[in-house]
Amino acid sequence: MIMQTQHLNMAAVDNHSAELLVILVPAGQTGFPSQAYPACLETLIEHYKKMGDWHSESKYLLCINPPEFKASRILLVDTNMDIVKADAKRISNVVSDVLEQLNKAKAEIIMPPWLQGGELLIQALFHASYKFSDYKTKTSRREEISVTLLVSDDSLDESLDYARALHNGMSRTRDLANMPGNLCTPGYFAECALALDEQFATISTDVLDEAQLTELGMGAYLAVGRGSVHPGCMPVIRYVGAEPEEPAIWVIGKGITFDSGGITLKKPPGMQSMIYDMCGGASVIGLMAAVAELKLPVNVTGVIATAENMPDGDAFRPGDILTTMSGQTVEIISTDAEGRLVLCDAITYAKQHQPALIIDVATLTGAQIVSLGSHASGLMGNSPQLNQALQQAGDESGDRAWTMPVWPDYQDALDSPFADMRNAGSQSPGMITAGCYLARFAGNTPWAHLDIAGTSFQYGTGNSATGRPLPLLLQFLRNYSNLSAPQWSINTDDCGFLP
Ligand code: BES
Ligand code: MN
Ligand code: ZN
Repeated sequence: MIMQTQHLNMAAVDNHSAELLVILVPAGQTGFPSQAYPACLETLIEHYKKMGDWHSESKYLLCINPPEFKASRILLVDTNMDIVKADAKRISNVVSDVLEQLNKAKAEIIMPPWLQGGELLIQALFHASYKFSDYKTKTSRREEISVTLLVSDDSLDESLDYARALHNGMSRTRDLANMPGNLCTPGYFAECALALDEQFATISTDVLDEAQLTELGMGAYLAVGRGSVHPGCMPVIRYVGAEPEEPAIWVIGKGITFDSGGITLKKPPGMQSMIYDMCGGASVIGLMAAVAELKLPVNVTGVIATAENMPDGDAFRPGDILTTMSGQTVEIISTDAEGRLVLCDAITYAKQHQPALIIDVATLTGAQIVSLGSHASGLMGNSPQLNQALQQAGDESGDRAWTMPVWPDYQDALDSPFADMRNAGSQSPGMITAGCYLARFAGNTPWAHLDIAGTSFQYGTGNSATGRPLPLLLQFLRNYSNLSAPQWSINTDDCGFLP
């Protein structure tokens, strides 16, 4: 989708020719602010009110050849003066449905100065335009949608640039996340990471191969991919937007390109959804692209913890004891709790590079879906300020996360008689247990974990990637770049791990 702004003298909007002109009408008859619109628009709305076509229950109305207007069609859409995410979604769905019905590709939307939350509307318009049809051999070749925002000043310019970068990043994430396991392999992730290096002068990528990961001692990471024919690797993507010596924010994504469960094999119904077990990794790719496009003045390093989890004669098995890069040993209870195994070594790797903080994003547990569903990602971490900053970025962007406790009390679930810990609890709150496991590797480095199992793709029928949690992460980085000296104190009494 193409989106641009155009200045328009609102008083003369009746003289503006358009295929489809969209007018946002403030909700409820009583809430109509005086001078909300120039006289010609008020008269038009009055006209449809008198006809009884536009009334207090109206959600939208398509007016063909509206009297006294040059525009050939006007779409009235009910709005709130302060747009929240639900309004933004509803309005953008109406606009895209009407365009589709009319088989038109151009809409012009009046963005009145009294409208609050216009940025969310812009983001939703972009979001509604996404289609994934890479693997349909027959596709309808519709013209690319073009949306013009009719404005009276430049106040939306920054919002539009931001929304465009976010959309480009999210589309990249969604295209990649929607790719099936036979095509999106760890090697393919490496290609995507190297493509970012090609595209942006501010990005440089290194792909660590199995030999290098072995050298680093990543015993947990490498065990996960052992049953797969696809060789493992770990792409590390560096974006430098601030002084090079400034510590980077490390974002680690779980990129299990297919999670069969391994020897602890999953049951068939729903197993095909496990092509989405790389949504965290796909988010890192999209995030790095968005950050580079926006030229954010921060340093960000993205890591894709990628492998394919398959059963095989050489696969790791329940009962195995692995030595992680941190030196801590892990007894395998379930080969299906594999995400934390690749993540723990990636976290240790990040810790050794003086990060400002570490955030990991992972479709880590089914328990997250049971606890929070698709409305909020599960957020856990060892720094209350960092948790708060991430939760706030989620609220601001409409991509919510909810903080869950990782109190030391929950750590008992990971006790092992043989090793330093085991990789899964039994009868324990699964999302929190997974968070507690990762906390043992983050130690005293500011760290947060986002469990995105329920938010990053639609589980069950109608599977498709949502592009979350990019809105949250990009908003966090945007806020972060405006902070002078961010402090993230660690609180191991309340969250995190006491060694
Ligand atoms: N990738 C799954 C989690 C998942 C499930 C994501 C459904 C999205 C939708 C993860 O690797 C997994 O299998 N987790 C297990 C952990 C358990 C064995 C401790 C789970 O949640 O059942
Ligand atoms: Mn699994
Ligand atoms: Zn998994």
